[in-house]
Amino acid sequence: MKDELWYKDAVFYQVYVRAFFDSNADGHGDLAGLTQKLDYLKDLGVDCLWLMPIYPSPLKDDGYDISDFYGIYPTYGDVKDFKALLDAAHKRGMRVITDLVLNHTSDQHPWFQAARSDPNSPYRDYYVWSDTDQKYKEARIIFLDVEKSNWTWDEAAGQYYWHRFYSSQPDLNYDNPAVQEEMINVMKFWLDMGIDGFRCDAVPYLFEREGTNCENLPLTHEYLKRLRRFMDEHYPGRIMLAEANQWPQDVIQYFGSGRDEFHMGFHFPLMPRIFMALKREEREPLVWILDQTPDLSEYTQWCIFLRNHDELTLEMVTEEERQWMWEQYAPEPRMRLNLGIRRRLAPLLDNDRGKLGLAYSLLFTMPGSPIIYYGDEIGMGDNIWLKDRDGVRTPMQWSNTNNAGFSDADAEKLYAPVIEGPVYGPERVNVADQINDPDSLLNMVRHMISVRKQYPVFGWGKFTWVFGEAPYDSSAVCAYLRHHENERVLVVHNFSGSSQSVVLRPPIEIQAAVPVDLLTGKTYTPFEDNRLKLDLAPYQYLWLRL
Ligand code: NOJ
Repeated sequence: MKDELWYKDAVFYQVYVRAFFDSNADGHGDLAGLTQKLDYLKDLGVDCLWLMPIYPSPLKDDGYDISDFYGIYPTYGDVKDFKALLDAAHKRGMRVITDLVLNHTSDQHPWFQAARSDPNSPYRDYYVWSDTDQKYKEARIIFLDVEKSNWTWDEAAGQYYWHRFYSSQPDLNYDNPAVQEEMINVMKFWLDMGIDGFRCDAVPYLFEREGTNCENLPLTHEYLKRLRRFMDEHYPGRIMLAEANQWPQDVIQYFGSGRDEFHMGFHFPLMPRIFMALKREEREPLVWILDQTPDLSEYTQWCIFLRNHDELTLEMVTEEERQWMWEQYAPEPRMRLNLGIRRRLAPLLDNDRGKLGLAYSLLFTMPGSPIIYYGDEIGMGDNIWLKDRDGVRTPMQWSNTNNAGFSDADAEKLYAPVIEGPVYGPERVNVADQINDPDSLLNMVRHMISVRKQYPVFGWGKFTWVFGEAPYDSSAVCAYLRHHENERVLVVHNFSGSSQSVVLRPPIEIQAAVPVDLLTGKTYTPFEDNRLKLDLAPYQYLWLRL
């Protein structure tokens, strides 16, 4: 059983295959290229890869617009390459999950082509049609900067069709039992191939109902539970990870009663608050959100992230907070996109090692399993001048050689330009140099992962805030206890750029413990009367084992 709960303390890594490594010099990363780089990921401490869509697609939304659920995008390779990747990953003890895009297809999918051209086609009812564009008015528009409506008129069909994302991504009609069956068949196909689960895209939007905002509807949860039953019956040990960008009370629903819906869910509301807390040098945003985050059952787990392939979404903050985040983190208008910020981790944190250290320390110690976005482990930069979200999807920087070691193609053939410039260009930021530098960001991340892995408390443990005792408290000090069975780790961060002295007083009895920092091996003055006095340097963080 414990084995089936592998995701409780796994370290995840998000891969954009096109960006990772080009094995055949055509300018695009591919599956064979990723396979060649598995040792790098293994060495970093990665347990599970999430591959962004690898299916045939016209790439109007970088593969989230699928035109064939049963194939591989030819530039990435073929099913044989995919199987080879799976085998190679499994041989190294790593797992692989892939994107399952349930909500929509590409408008180039044969189902949509048949649906639009023939009202009597059995596929017509695979999509959501209407004679007016006035239905479901309460549903928000997600790609605000591009789409003006969730309805688009289709000349061939003589009707409007419904889409929550780009108009090139018509929504599937989940009221049609045939659609429900189709998607179970898709799951079966990839699970039979041997994948370890799915990152399930855009799950809140499967059903529409008049008079609602068409998100998180009971029918949607019912269908998702059906997918889970199917997985449990035939593929125990494989997981479903929910992409549900929702407020805590809604996101919780995706875990169902604990064992009947998702195994994992991204913690979207937590993510922007990490950046708020760091910028404000205050723990308060984290306290606020984690206090609303209930303990999960032992069968479910949060997936915590700092950045991903999309804009840093500001949907789960108030209007006032969003304005503040934009002012602080996206002063240049090109940095903003929809309700978010299209920048990478290192530029967001001023490429400052102190702040990056804090961010990673939070990632690896807060309740949940961490996921790293490719390139962020070496502090890659972004290119805000590329369209849409492409600026955070540029080629992985392997070395300071041609095309950053990503591809042997001529530079103009690359799917996207390598990041340039004195700060983030491959001369300064690349894997080869960082591997050999004990003080590099890469080695810091690798070290944190290796420490985390020795202590199940980080994946399994309960979480309790630890505050300072007045007047020796500081709102810049963010401390919490992780505890599991006999193991206790007190994690302490100083978010401030100046030193802070605090007397921490855990809410539970700590027997005369001598704290040892797991990251450095350094010991600290023992607890006295259940109090721990600490003098913290600017941006310092400690993982104190008690
Ligand atoms: C969420 C994905 O993360 C994003 O990249 C995509 O554009 C939308 N879902 C639509 O599939």
